[in-house]
Amino acid sequence: ERDLTINSSGHLEIGGCDVVELAKAFGTPLYVLDEAKIRANCRAYHEALKGVYPNYELVYAGKAFLTQAMCGLVYQEGFGLDVVSGGELYTALRAGFPAENINFHGNNKSRAELVMALKNGVGRIMVDNLMELETLIQLAMETKTQPRVVFRLKPGVTAHTHTYTQTGQEDSKFGMGLNDGVALKAVKIALASPQIKLLGFHCHIGSQIFEVEPFKAAIDVLTAFMAEARTQTGFVAEVLDLGGGIGIAHNKQEKPRALLEIVSKIGRYARERLTALQYPLPLLVLEPGRSIVGSAGTTIYTVGNIKRIPGVRTYLAVDGGMTDNPRVALYQAVYEGALANKMNEPLTEVVTVTGKCCESGDMLIWDLPLATPEPGDLLAVFDTGAYNYSMASNYNRLPRPAVVLVAEGEAELIVRRETYEQLIQNDLIPERLKVKSE
Ligand code: LLP
Repeated sequence: ERDLTINSSGHLEIGGCDVVELAKAFGTPLYVLDEAKIRANCRAYHEALKGVYPNYELVYAGKAFLTQAMCGLVYQEGFGLDVVSGGELYTALRAGFPAENINFHGNNKSRAELVMALKNGVGRIMVDNLMELETLIQLAMETKTQPRVVFRLKPGVTAHTHTYTQTGQEDSKFGMGLNDGVALKAVKIALASPQIKLLGFHCHIGSQIFEVEPFKAAIDVLTAFMAEARTQTGFVAEVLDLGGGIGIAHNKQEKPRALLEIVSKIGRYARERLTALQYPLPLLVLEPGRSIVGSAGTTIYTVGNIKRIPGVRTYLAVDGGMTDNPRVALYQAVYEGALANKMNEPLTEVVTVTGKCCESGDMLIWDLPLATPEPGDLLAVFDTGAYNYSMASNYNRLPRPAVVLVAEGEAELIVRRETYEQLIQNDLIPERLKVKSE
């Protein structure tokens, strides 16, 4: 069961703030982020690895949710940052995040993005392929820098929610192949290139994973490659980065093992394997995104029109939708919700929550048991902290919602609501298309 706080008015409370008051103060749709939960999730990772693996580092995957305030928060929790674009890097640098604690990922970084990373002294460039390696070596010469690089490898492990498959040569746009010799070739090129410093290896096997087995399979493949590369070239890796991917429960059906347990098992297994191979323990890096911020977010909507189709279903429309949460339309993600202003009222009906976009696929929750809904009620949708704001769009020219951070009864805006003026700020009108009414 979800641990929800309900106050004496029967309203949902998050971080000590009454959600009805938050909606009044900041409007809807509104993303509410619970600071204590984010910090607790960060600390759970430290807890899980402490004493299990001697030298580890935690890096927050900014793609899940990145704003300047979030940068400060994860920094305070002793996390580095994983960025995947010039825009994410810019956000981190503007927030004052130390460049040396940033990992720069991506399968197609532009030259401009790479130069930006080199000039700012980004800690690790995660190199995806041979062409990027060549480009980086050249740019390092031009900028007179010596980037520290980690190679993204394709372990051939595809993790699905409950199963995983291991194939020889995985068809993926990310990373360097092992069986085709690309990864070993890249190691040799790096070792022969004084312009860069090779630190080690990385993989990321997927997202929303609830089992430890696929991580173990990836560790097997990567450590075997590390041993092989050592035999062939003498190179000993200082960094082993296993990416992110630990899942969170969006609904009662998905029952994850405790996060702590999975993370500890990953750390323990990596240590075992490396020790068995007599490999000096490299820095173990994990890059969680969703499991840090997902459960800390709740989206608040105002209920609008309710359409009861007898014998079919009841559509309850809210003032947001696929623009602020595209995950339902994209991945058939399942969310749960409740009427934030009627938390103590009995659940009387099952509704289908839909957004306001001009599209039938604009759904938020298919079958949600609710207290009797009326227009003006506030619907809270839970676990929307990850890949919601960061994937939001302006489809139908809907302004993006505000984000408010709540802690100990205080609410602080960390992203302003977009305005109509901002929606048109980049529009240009050629003279001949200016509307001149008679
Ligand atoms: N590291 C790398 C290299 C990644 O590609 C990712 C996610 C992560 C770390 C963080 O994974 P997490 O711990 O958040 O699972 N938009 C999708 C998720 C895409 C994840 C892409 N990479 C969704 O909404 O489910």
